[in-house]
Amino acid sequence: MSKKKIFIFLLAVIMVFSIAGCSKQDKLVKIQEAGKIVLGTSADYPPYEFHKEIDGKDQIVGFDIEIAKAIAEDLGVELEIKDMKFEGLLAALAGDKIDFIVSGMTPTPERAKSVDFSKEYYVEEQKLLIRKADADKIKTIDDLEGLRIGAQKATVQEEIANGIEGAADVKLLAKITDLVLELSNDKIDAIILPKPVAIAYAESNPNLFAPDISFGRQDGVAVAVAKGNPKLVEAINKTLDRLIQEGKIDEFITEATKLAEE
Ligand code: ARG
Repeated sequence: MSKKKIFIFLLAVIMVFSIAGCSKQDKLVKIQEAGKIVLGTSADYPPYEFHKEIDGKDQIVGFDIEIAKAIAEDLGVELEIKDMKFEGLLAALAGDKIDFIVSGMTPTPERAKSVDFSKEYYVEEQKLLIRKADADKIKTIDDLEGLRIGAQKATVQEEIANGIEGAADVKLLAKITDLVLELSNDKIDAIILPKPVAIAYAESNPNLFAPDISFGRQDGVAVAVAKGNPKLVEAINKTLDRLIQEGKIDEFITEATKLAEE
């Protein structure tokens, strides 16, 4: 090889390594350098994440938020919260607008194609929210025949709603708060929600009711991060392990449930 060729070859080797080096840098490093981690969540899911006026100020609270705070604390960084539509969370993560998602998100195989998930920290059981006036009319899943069903867009609840045989209509909205309004205003007849969320909305809306009707489905929930950041996932799992071991998650759930009911 001529000297020139060797030079070009070495240059190519250096370039390949530096490109690989850049893309390999774990998001964990970026977060620690920035001194903050940005959370994406859809704060319409009490007791997971919801808006609450505390000391005259609107705040986002809930057990997912406590988990996110613990993750930030263990990383030694500030937590910034971005409230958005649930259906926009995955794109926000891919577009680097947020660093992680804690939003009661189920690690479905479909989602796992575009993001990486932590271990599961909770399991939700899918149930219903209806009007109290319909409590005698809606007692089993079969009673949903001919009724108008609501679910949050791009969720596992959407999947369940689309699978209900004989439903008159399936209405999908971005925010659960809007679905709850539709239910109160007799525009839909039932919303598919996990048990604790249905109960929380029933507690704060006296005209609504969370019947004990189950879809017999258990969906886990986990934290999501952009693909290819094993160090960040590892750090998050470490915090989750600690919280689970110390019984903190149950504590967070109890506290958030109380907050949602107040
Ligand atoms: N667990 C369901 C899913 O992943 C619903 C999550 C909705 N979360 C929310 N914050 N609204 O599809």
